[in-house]
Amino acid sequence: MTAYPYEVHEYDVVVVGAGGAGLRATLGMAEQGLRTACVTKVFPTRSHTVAAQGGIAASLGNMGPDSWQWHMYDTVKGSDWLGDTDAMEYLAREAPKAVYELEHYGVPFSRTEEGKIYQRPFGGHTTEFGEGPPVQRTCAAADRTGHAILHTLYGQSLKNNAEFFIEYFALDLIVTDGRCTGIVAWKLDDGTIHVFNAKMVVLATGGYGRAYFSATSAHTCTGDGGGMVARAGLPLQDMEFVQFHPTGIYGSGCLITEGARGEGGYLTNSEGERFMERYAPTYKDLASRDVVSRCMTIEIREGRGVGAEGDHIHLHLNHLPPETLHERLPGISESAKIFAGVDVTKEPIPVLPTVHYNMGGIPTNYWGEVLNPTKDSPDAVFPGLMAVGEAGCASVHGANRLGSNSLIDLVVFGRAAAIRAGEVVDPKERNQPVNRAEVDQALSRFDGFRNAKGAVPTAELRLEMQKTMQADAAVFRTDKTLAEGVGKMQKVAAKMDDLAVTDRSLVWNSDLMETLELANLMPNALATIVAAEARKESRGAHAHEDYPKRDDATWRVHSLAHVDGARVTLSTRPVHLDPLTTEKEGGIDLKKIAPKARVY
Ligand code: FUM
Repeated sequence: MTAYPYEVHEYDVVVVGAGGAGLRATLGMAEQGLRTACVTKVFPTRSHTVAAQGGIAASLGNMGPDSWQWHMYDTVKGSDWLGDTDAMEYLAREAPKAVYELEHYGVPFSRTEEGKIYQRPFGGHTTEFGEGPPVQRTCAAADRTGHAILHTLYGQSLKNNAEFFIEYFALDLIVTDGRCTGIVAWKLDDGTIHVFNAKMVVLATGGYGRAYFSATSAHTCTGDGGGMVARAGLPLQDMEFVQFHPTGIYGSGCLITEGARGEGGYLTNSEGERFMERYAPTYKDLASRDVVSRCMTIEIREGRGVGAEGDHIHLHLNHLPPETLHERLPGISESAKIFAGVDVTKEPIPVLPTVHYNMGGIPTNYWGEVLNPTKDSPDAVFPGLMAVGEAGCASVHGANRLGSNSLIDLVVFGRAAAIRAGEVVDPKERNQPVNRAEVDQALSRFDGFRNAKGAVPTAELRLEMQKTMQADAAVFRTDKTLAEGVGKMQKVAAKMDDLAVTDRSLVWNSDLMETLELANLMPNALATIVAAEARKESRGAHAHEDYPKRDDATWRVHSLAHVDGARVTLSTRPVHLDPLTTEKEGGIDLKKIAPKARVY
């Protein structure tokens, strides 16, 4: 029996996380009259979505011809043929609806002369199934699109009577007879413990960028959902695919939006050469992100990096009209000044590929329902549990995500989860009684960390993990670096049993919170490097120098990783090849999305 008393809260749905996906799900559930709680470790408008800059992809066609089929094609190709076809169709088809909903909720999009939503070019987004010029598909609110969406969705959620539990840290899922029946949470400002008993739990906890040393992700991006899911014995999917954004500011990792290249910015090496013209003759600086990051890394490795140590690249915006910079890119102009001391109207910004996004996550179907795949039933749903946004893996991004497909993923699948919950959650049904044994187990784990008297400070172990991941699960990977990295990470993970926590209090105990976050980062990091070591091909963001080609015959499969302590067990799950609608029903011509070489 635990010594921690706790308060029980009864809801139909509890959403964990208040970024774009969490808020869109919360709003959708509340709109349908489901009693909805949103539990979040940070104030909603401080969630990491606030940092999303360039925009949200949808084939509105405001700036020239576009179609959802072209968007779907680009997403399939961007995913390097690892995305699930049904989910990618759902994303591209629903995107315009989801963006117009945002507009009606009040998102202050930038406007064209005619008053339509302004759209800019982004990498990998094209016309005519990759045969035509780049398309302007990315709907933008200057370069603060995530900020605008987050504030609007929070206001709308409050208007619809969703209830917020702010600065509550979710400790663990409660699983009762094979279904999720709630969560246990720790209230950070007064130290009390809370149990949220519910018919549906939605994990919208974001990515785990902070498993790496240099990331554009906020310090809060610690893979909390993935950690909870792994502890519940469920798998993580496609974790080897980690996106490096081409333009993190050298030194700080702060994001410079791809919208900068969308507005006409370009990259140069130490010879002043626009080297992307050599690697991607058609789309140049607007090739897909994994491609641009690799080309930058090659330039640096071959001695054409800029700066005293030749270890980064220049991004030029200084040729653009100052009015464009002021109107379309005010946020990054400010960031460049603060974090690199650069006046973008006069000088180039020093940039470097920086960890930005996790394509992998908690496996779900395109309704956001979490999967617990078996060999005979690869799409089996784990009842009572959903995952949306970067925490989930639907999978629409496959091996590589296109820029601006993240914000649309958040709102399309947050909305889909709400629609599905409206079908499967009956508000008239009573919740199951609280599973007290499960609560006790979560609290005894919590107490173990709180009183940890080992030899290794949390910050020291976190740094060791981050440096290992940065060095050994990088833009380019080899058998040697990956095998060494797996060995190192297993040693790092084993040290979780020897942690030293010095603050024993329960109120604003950042030492304890960071320890719990590290315990969530660790299974995500382990799954990433072990799955990367196992995948003997190159696909999307997984660039394996010993296996430089994509191998569809063997590897067009999702990887699954069950993580138990430092042990990772891998298996696979088939990629969905069937679309939702046939060509006759208005769907895409399947010949258009058949696998082929991925060139830009
Ligand atoms: O470059 C950016 O503005 C980031 C967008 C994204 O990751 O989708």
